[in-house]
Amino acid sequence: MSKETLSVTDDRNGKTYSLPIEKGTVRAMDLRQIKTGPDDFGIMSYDPAFMNTASCRSAVTFIDGDRGILRYRGYPIEELAEHCTFLEVAYLLLHGELPSPAELKDWVYEITHHTMLHENVKKFIDGFHYDAHPMGMLVSTLAALSTFYPESKNVLDARVRRQQILRLIGKVPTIAAYAYRHSLGLPYVYPDNELSYTENFMNMLWKKTELKYLSNRTLARALDVLFILHADHEQNCSANTMRCVGSSQADPYLAAAAAASALAGPLHGGANEEVLKMLAEIGTKENIPGYIKQVKEGKFKLMGFGHRVYKNYDPRAKILKRTAEEVFQVTGRNPKLDIAIELERIALEDEYFVKRKLYPNVDFYSGIIYQAMGFRPEMFTVMFAIPRMAGWLAQWEELLQDPEQKISRPRQVFTGKDVRHLEQARPATAAD
Ligand code: ACO
Repeated sequence: MSKETLSVTDDRNGKTYSLPIEKGTVRAMDLRQIKTGPDDFGIMSYDPAFMNTASCRSAVTFIDGDRGILRYRGYPIEELAEHCTFLEVAYLLLHGELPSPAELKDWVYEITHHTMLHENVKKFIDGFHYDAHPMGMLVSTLAALSTFYPESKNVLDARVRRQQILRLIGKVPTIAAYAYRHSLGLPYVYPDNELSYTENFMNMLWKKTELKYLSNRTLARALDVLFILHADHEQNCSANTMRCVGSSQADPYLAAAAAASALAGPLHGGANEEVLKMLAEIGTKENIPGYIKQVKEGKFKLMGFGHRVYKNYDPRAKILKRTAEEVFQVTGRNPKLDIAIELERIALEDEYFVKRKLYPNVDFYSGIIYQAMGFRPEMFTVMFAIPRMAGWLAQWEELLQDPEQKISRPRQVFTGKDVRHLEQARPATAAD
């Protein structure tokens, strides 16, 4: 039987080391023993942007990027999107198993009864400019919640953690809806506890003067599917931020605000907003070849394309293409879909994209759906953040229960000046 070890020979002194291999990894700390002498610090690994570094063990989400596979707690994303509600999936992510009917009933009840925001939050949101970006409002409000729940800093207490999980999953749609209504100058709408998670969100977004908001079932289901697809994606930039900030034992509101900030960037969740800007700029199908030429010349990136992990079609994008057609039955077809489909067709036949294994990612189609539902592009990343809260919290829970984890603190390879002294830069003058 082959040995599960890696032999490393240090050519500086000919010494050989045997490093254990576990689940396809060697421990970076095992490299530290490789030294040339007692004063040598030992070898470190250098991995900018974590291209080949596992930062944790995780049982939450599995991705096989080469085969285009995504599973939450073992269940294929396609099955979850077909048969579950978002809150069932959120439970699964956080608890490791799907809820029984009784557990689901309690879970839905608890989340539903944590959807209201303190009245002061309204005043707080009122302070933003009418054209404030909703992601800025979301991030700030999440951080502000930390001040309303000071007990949340007891992150090592499982009961306290659970209470904040309920609050965060319950309140994030309310914050998102308030930010949306604020940008339109509309009064805020309180949650309605008789509605499902997505129906209530639609109620808080779109209710006008009617006494009871009636949601369109197809759109409510499409939102559920979108939320399921966006709920977690293992160690992406924002999950890693949640873990990094969480590792300092900051409270979950502050950690979630940091994670949402990471999500806002155009290379991460902010890409959905950029895709719509790009499709508007392209304008017509005839302009696509010229646009692709400029992408290949390195002038800009094709937004919604490419992924650090997927080197195959993003399985979420496949499901979204279908969801888009269902939504358009209700809203009418978003003409941008035709440009997107043609752009995808041309790109997938082009040597540049084929060689680099660049495929559409989840952000390529989500914005087209959200726009058809009536959202401005500025809201798209907020729509991503709502369900991702469940994933961030599942990653945060796992981090805090992992005895191997400590405060997240990478090393560096120092490239600056060696020691030097002020007297060399500023020679003493007579006045001194
Ligand atoms: N358009 C054109 N070329 C691209 C694109 C793109 N969208 N993405 C990657 N490439 C090229 C790079 O220029 C590079 O080419 P080179 O080898 O000639 O230098 C090669 O493909 C490899 O790309 P990297 O940038 O090294 O890949 P990385 O893993 O660092 O980046 C990322 C992944 C950030 C997602 C990148 O593909 C990108 O910027 N895409 C556009 C933004 C986007 O859609 N982000 C959403 C990702 S999904 C999510 O976060 C929810």
